[in-house]
Amino acid sequence: MSSSDAASGPGTSAQDSSPYLDALAEFVTKGRERWDTPGHQGSVDAHPLMTSYFGERTLALDFQTMVDGIDLGPDNAKQRSLTLAAQAWGSSRTWFLTNGSTGGNLTACLAMAGMGGSLVAQRSVHSSVISGLAMSGLAATFIAPDLDEELGISHGLTAQALDDALTANPDARIALVVTPSYFGACADVRALADVAHRHNAALIVDEAWGAHFGFHPDLPTNAVRLGADLVVSSMHKLGGSLGQTALLHLGHGPFAEKLEPFVVRALDAMASTSESTLLLASLDIARREIAVHGATTINRSLATAARLRYRISSDGRYRDVTDKIRTYPSVVGIDPLRVVIDTRAGGVSGHEARHLLFEGGHHLELSTDSVVVALIGAGVELDADGLADTLLGLPNRESEIRPVISLPPAGPRRMTVREAYFSAAEVISAADAVGRISADSVAAYPPGIPNLMPGEEITAANLTFLQDTAAAPFGYVRGAISPDMSLVRVVI
Ligand SMILES: Cc1ncc(COP(=O)(O)O)c(C=O)c1O
Repeated sequence: MSSSDAASGPGTSAQDSSPYLDALAEFVTKGRERWDTPGHQGSVDAHPLMTSYFGERTLALDFQTMVDGIDLGPDNAKQRSLTLAAQAWGSSRTWFLTNGSTGGNLTACLAMAGMGGSLVAQRSVHSSVISGLAMSGLAATFIAPDLDEELGISHGLTAQALDDALTANPDARIALVVTPSYFGACADVRALADVAHRHNAALIVDEAWGAHFGFHPDLPTNAVRLGADLVVSSMHKLGGSLGQTALLHLGHGPFAEKLEPFVVRALDAMASTSESTLLLASLDIARREIAVHGATTINRSLATAARLRYRISSDGRYRDVTDKIRTYPSVVGIDPLRVVIDTRAGGVSGHEARHLLFEGGHHLELSTDSVVVALIGAGVELDADGLADTLLGLPNRESEIRPVISLPPAGPRRMTVREAYFSAAEVISAADAVGRISADSVAAYPPGIPNLMPGEEITAANLTFLQDTAAAPFGYVRGAISPDMSLVRVVI
């Protein structure tokens, strides 16, 4: 960042504007008759139902741009909003995404292929990375993250694990890590970036869960400020924009510079040519709110989290596992806005607790067999006592709880993800699948780390693990052809 950029970082008055939103609003006030897409054309008469749910103003603001001054021409409003976003997060360049971090990961995977060489990636990547590898054809080596076998949840990668993997794969030009985790565990991005760069590889961080980082002194620093070269960030998750919106940040220095042209081309391939003005404007608004007011408003969210933690730990039935998560070598920080509660310790499985909480009027983001995770959006204040009262009143069903099983090692890789993805495949009985090559990514929840990846040999231990998980109460196997894991898709 230049010094003038620094003068418009988080909390400064330059951030207190939303040029893209303002340009849309001004366009609408001109009252032009619409002969464009989307075909609702803001017509209340033609769309009374949509108008009654979403409001007239929403329809009015939802129009096809490609308009000089809004998103075309020099110094257009969208470009100014993107520059403000880059300054707020400290990137050299930021792009708005309207297809989530899913789109960000697909874009990153296409762009990575431009760097040559192969990829070293954390095994617990989001499924969009596997799809992205099928698209880009990049060869990948996967590294197991830290795993809490008691709770069945995974964390991040240590710098040492990355160093070892890059040493073993000297042709790797990209490293991809996920931090923070679903459970708020933050890896040491600065150390990971140093290691990657020392091995002549760029560091890409899937920071889908950390869009709010850096906007309050009690929150971790964001990955781009810690030296990552490309960062994928779901602003809609905790950052306050509308669902499906995300940000892609480019870092600084030679690796980012090399990535940039490939990112630009990949974005062209991935983004809709009719991106939603509403989604884009929501990114502009959410950036303004968090950059200008986050340091104050996030106090409310932190207070909610602290109160919930206090109620859980002072009662003693359940366990707040924040301190336990901190003990893992890959964890150097915690997102305080994710409260991870071990309900199994209090006689009810995480999935059952989440279900019962839902019945009791509380919809929680996530559960595993052991834990529930409560999220508090940046700037939001929630009723911590209401949630704690319901949680602490749940029936104790000790007898239905099963022990966590430990995770078997992955089978050897026999072909790339892309080769397996596009190979002829057949669905066979799991009993005959040992030694064959998986065509699919299949992950048991908990802990959601793929046990089979496209191109990997299927081992007996992995099949047993997947079948045991499928048979367990509330167990779930993502990517399974049959819910009980009796069938598997394999390369012919
Ligand atoms: C680590 C990670 N990356 C990417 C994504 C995809 O994000 P989005 O839902 O914004 O497409 C998710 C979704 O939960 C995720 O957990």
